[in-house]
Formats: sequence, C-alpha cells, structure tokens
Amino acid sequence: MDLLYLFIVLVCAFFTVVVTAAVVFFTIKYKRRHEQEVGADIHGSLILELTWTFIPFVLAMMMFVWGADLFFRLSRPPADAMELFVVGKQWMWKVQHPEGVREINEMHVPINRNVRITLGSEDVLHDYSIPAFRVKMDAVPGKWTTMWFKATKPGTYHIFCAEYCGTKHSGMIGQVIAMEEQDYEAWLAGGRSTGSTVDQGSRLFAELSCNTCHEEGSTARGPSLIGVFGSMVPLSNGANAVADDNYLRESIMNPQARVVRGYQPIMPAFQGMVSEENLMQLIAYIKTLAPASSSTTTPAGDGHQQ
Ligand code: CUA
Repeated sequence: MDLLYLFIVLVCAFFTVVVTAAVVFFTIKYKRRHEQEVGADIHGSLILELTWTFIPFVLAMMMFVWGADLFFRLSRPPADAMELFVVGKQWMWKVQHPEGVREINEMHVPINRNVRITLGSEDVLHDYSIPAFRVKMDAVPGKWTTMWFKATKPGTYHIFCAEYCGTKHSGMIGQVIAMEEQDYEAWLAGGRSTGSTVDQGSRLFAELSCNTCHEEGSTARGPSLIGVFGSMVPLSNGANAVADDNYLRESIMNPQARVVRGYQPIMPAFQGMVSEENLMQLIAYIKTLAPASSSTTTPAGDGHQQ
C-alpha cells in the first residue's frame, strides 16, 4: 500500500515539476516582444500526440493493475484467519472474540496472525479504520462487511471512526493492542467470558425456538440448517443464493426476502428482536451445523416440495 502510494506521489510530483518547468520555460522563450509578432501556425504532430497518450496510458495502467491487485488481496481474507466481530454503535466500537470475551473501544489481537473482522452497525453508517494497518471499512446498517489484517509488531494503534455519524463521531475512537501470541492467550484466559460465541448462539437458537421449525425430517416447516452455510440454496422465485453470512443474516431479520424453494413464507421476522451481536452468535452456531457424515447429507430444501 505504501509503495503504491509512494509511486503515485512520485509520478505526480515528477509531472508537476516537468509541466511547471515547461510552462515557465516557454513563457520566457516565446514572450511576445513587439506588437507585430504573430505566433507560428502549427497543425499537430503525430509523434508528440502518440507520446503524450502512450506514456500516461502506461502509467495509469500500472496504477490500476497494482491497485486492483492490492484491492483483491485486501477484500479476500485468508482462509486461516481468526475471526473477530465488531459492531459500531453511536458512539462506540463493541468487539467480540470467538471465545466469548468482549471489549469496548479496545481490540486485543495476537501478532503474526491473520485477523478477519466481520463488521456490523446497530444504527447508522460508521467506518472502522486502523490507519497503522492501512485498513478501513464501512460498518453498514442492515448488512455485514469484512476486512482483514495481520499485525506484525506488538504495540498500541489508533482506531478511528472514519464516517461522520453524529454528534460524538470524533469521540468514536479506540485502540488496537497487538500482543505476542502467548500474551494474547493469557489476556483471553483472564477475560470474562459468558461462553463461546457458538455456545451463546446455540442457546439463542433454543430460546428463540428456531429449532421448532428448523428440525430434521420431512415434516419440518422450515429448511434444515445442517450444512447450509456456504451451500447453494434454491429460492422460491426460481433463483439460487449462496448461503453466506449476509444471506443468513437477511433470512433471520427479514425471512420473506428470499424464501427457500418448497417452503411457505411463514417465518416471523426477527428485525428489532435480535441485536447484531446475537445475530453473529446465531450464525456462528449455524456454521457449526455440519452433517454428521457425508452419506446422510440432505441439502436444505431437498424433498420438501409442497
Ligand atoms: Cu461512528 Cu463516525
């Protein structure tokens, strides 16, 4: 990121100097010296035009390819990344570790490990920004976004909200505390946890009675959730959807939006009933619902045509 930035600054600086020097030079060289002086009648130059088209084209394409490559690497978290959940709320950042430890306006992470952040918002648009790691991502109400980084040096780094979100926007700040792996483990063990994210999700799943409809068997009123995460789900409108974080999130908050083919749109919406953190716990639990063995796999929706 820094190299690309330096490259763009250097290219801009170089051409600023060249163009300015040319302007000054020609201003002096071709200064009108007496009233009768008339400029020469020049009709284009193919070589000149090709040159000033080709060189900027190559430079702009270098910036584009380099930037696109960086963007793709930034937007695809590595598969081995540990996952943290961050919720923006006027005016604080709530962080949840998979082990169940929570913190506010602080985020402890181990160094030399890829960290993937799933980002949500409880009210308005915020933006989670950690300038030292060169990452920043919008926290959008109604959907989840992701970002990732790898801290390489222990230390304390700024977190800012980088999207104007109301009166105390400027106070919506915090710190990333990057620690050696063993220090992080010790910190986690010392934190107060109310059960892992998955355990809390499992509890919620029962409390909200999700299991009464999403049960196994051909008479179930809702599709089975076993192995649903990451699978292709056939929808009642004939289309298909990938059951990723945002699909599952939508299916809980606003189930009528994309109903699984073969099922009645009878699920109540949980919008306003479960917080972003609860949603995240529920979905963490749903992700663990793997088929017992591959031979008994029943993809959601199969055998339920009505
Ligand atoms: Cu949150 Cu600005």
